[in-house]
Amino acid sequence: MPIRLSEKIEQIIRRAAGISHGPVVLHEPFFNGNERQYVADCIDTNWVSTVGKYVNLFEELISRTTGAKHAIATINGTAALHICLLLAGTRTGDEILTPALTFVAAANAISYCNAIPHFVDVSPLSMGICPEKLQAHLEKIAEVRDGECFNRETGRPIRAIVVMHTFGHPSHLDELKQIADRYALKFIEDAAEAIGSAYHGRHVGNHGLLSALSFNGNKTITTGGGGAILTNDDALAKRARHLTTTGKVVHPWEYFHDCVAYNYRLPNLNAALGCAQLEQLSDIVMKKRVLASRYKSEFSPVKELRFFTEMDGVKSNYWLNAIILNNPSIELRNGLLKHLNDAGIMARPVWNLMNRLPMYASCPAADLSASQQLEASLINIPSSPSF
Ligand SMILES: Cc1ncc(COP(=O)(O)O)c(C=O)c1O
Repeated sequence: MPIRLSEKIEQIIRRAAGISHGPVVLHEPFFNGNERQYVADCIDTNWVSTVGKYVNLFEELISRTTGAKHAIATINGTAALHICLLLAGTRTGDEILTPALTFVAAANAISYCNAIPHFVDVSPLSMGICPEKLQAHLEKIAEVRDGECFNRETGRPIRAIVVMHTFGHPSHLDELKQIADRYALKFIEDAAEAIGSAYHGRHVGNHGLLSALSFNGNKTITTGGGGAILTNDDALAKRARHLTTTGKVVHPWEYFHDCVAYNYRLPNLNAALGCAQLEQLSDIVMKKRVLASRYKSEFSPVKELRFFTEMDGVKSNYWLNAIILNNPSIELRNGLLKHLNDAGIMARPVWNLMNRLPMYASCPAADLSASQQLEASLINIPSSPSF
């Protein structure tokens, strides 16, 4: 009797992970360096909160790793996105272009600015925003007047585009930037999933005006919870630092705050963990790429699906590995997810598309057919660097 697809997938995951029995988690942190020492140092010296040597060092290391001139550490990636949007000039009633296939953080950060997410489709090659479909959509609905882009259908300004590098795979950055320039859109990268990934040799998150990273516990490297804002612009960096530290004017004892701002700075304790993790980034990314190549060769004879691989000219950190069914079907996808999870393998569907969430159901949206196909065909499979 031919072996069932669900069992085939289960066996491949167990072989690639090197775990023949018991649970296989989706993604767990990899602590193999100076984590304990640096965290203990914070406790021993009482520098546990938002001031301390590790926060500054962490920012320096992120800047060095990504090539961005400035890195500003934040409490999480969502806070980083919020500040990126404010610094890009997002105002009440603006529309912000963002993929429908993404984690909810970008849409929420847009809402924190009283702006409106405008959902666009993704490319099956990158799983990030599709340049061709974006161009066609903007030709249909947008016009530039006096250097500002407007949605002809709603009358609202379209201020910015938030590009996301899905599961660590870089988007089509050059093409998307050209379109953003053509339509006078501020270019923001949601690089939350993509530390260690590069586009044409340059780290992602370093291609637009501003970008956001996440160091949540499920990411390639973690600070427990944490994020960062990246920019090459000195004035924006200064403003980002001010807005993330309650707008306090620097003074040895005075409490003077000159604007409504946020308590978004990363604590030293978390940054200490992050410094130790960043020291291991290249090793962790190497391990993840080796796992991805094992999956790629194991899945290649399976005719019902494909293992998602990076595009030419980019380097992915393969944060979360994904298989994609050739025939999109929510029933088949859910059946496979049930089998794998019953067998102790943490496999997950992709996010519900943003326009399906109740608070975003009435937002403007382009044709989302590629996102819908991925929603019905994509399964994330275990991706820990320790495998
Ligand atoms: C694409 C994307 N954007 C933003 C975030 C938000 O990051 P955080 O959880 O650190 O707020 C995440 C992940 O959590 C993410 O996957």
